[in-house]
Amino acid sequence: MKGKHVLLTGGTGGLGLGVTPVVLSLGAEVTIPYIQAQEVERLKSLISPADFARIRFVATNLNDEEAVERLINDLPRVDVLIHLVGGFAMGKTHEYSFENWKRDFDLNLNTTFLVCKHSLRRMLENGYGRIVTVGSKGAVQPSGQLAAYCASKAGVVALTQAIAEETKDTNITANTVLPSVIDTPSNREAMGTDNVDKWVKPESLAQVICFLASEAAKDIRGAAIPVYGDI
Ligand SMILES: NC(=O)c1ccc[n+]([C@@H]2O[C@H](COP(=O)([O-])OP(=O)(O)OC[C@H]3O[C@@H](n4cnc5c(N)ncnc54)[C@H](OP(=O)(O)O)[C@@H]3O)[C@@H](O)[C@H]2O)c1
Repeated sequence: MKGKHVLLTGGTGGLGLGVTPVVLSLGAEVTIPYIQAQEVERLKSLISPADFARIRFVATNLNDEEAVERLINDLPRVDVLIHLVGGFAMGKTHEYSFENWKRDFDLNLNTTFLVCKHSLRRMLENGYGRIVTVGSKGAVQPSGQLAAYCASKAGVVALTQAIAEETKDTNITANTVLPSVIDTPSNREAMGTDNVDKWVKPESLAQVICFLASEAAKDIRGAAIPVYGDI
């Protein structure tokens, strides 16, 4: 990825703490849209000042199409889109509010649509692109009390595979990874550390993501790769 322009959404989140240093180590120019400034500070405390200085941070709500369009138009190029943004919430379907259902689709599926749509536009102009999105094990093996999360992540997989079909015969690829439980600070806080050895390390997921984002993965289109660790 040396010299490539990478749009890395969610780069300050739990998974991002593992993915961002790996992307930087590969020599990419990195732009990270964010909402919470304290998450930028958390990332800053974990990487070298020299690496931190190489990241362009842009406050952007990825559910706002005008803001996404502005963010992406302001980039010199979008060679690689790594879209980590997403999140989950639990609740039984018969008790789940429509507001929360829509919020989960906004966070997981609608952000993916907006960043893919506008990145693709730039990639098609440039004749090159790598798109890597993040689904979830729940997208292909749905669990109870996670209907909105699983349905919205299934949508992320379908959207990514549809883009892969649309970009056949170009040097643009689109693939997705399906993590199980990731070893993030939030998961440690919520679930304790008893099973942490079974969880997927962000750095391990980063290797899979960065391979899919590399020139070497030019023939992989529409893959949904399970990255389950021992779960
Ligand atoms: N953690 C797991 O065990 C697990 C398992 C399977 C799949 N996944 C998937 O892996 C991905 C990363 O998860 P994670 O644990 O790293 O989540 P996280 O810690 O909650 O990070 C999510 C990131 O998304 C950003 N974000 C959220 N809404 C945004 C918006 N509207 N505009 C711009 N940025 C926004 C957040 O930025 P701010 O904090 O600045 O708002 C944060 O950096 C997600 O897609 C998740 O569904 C996670």
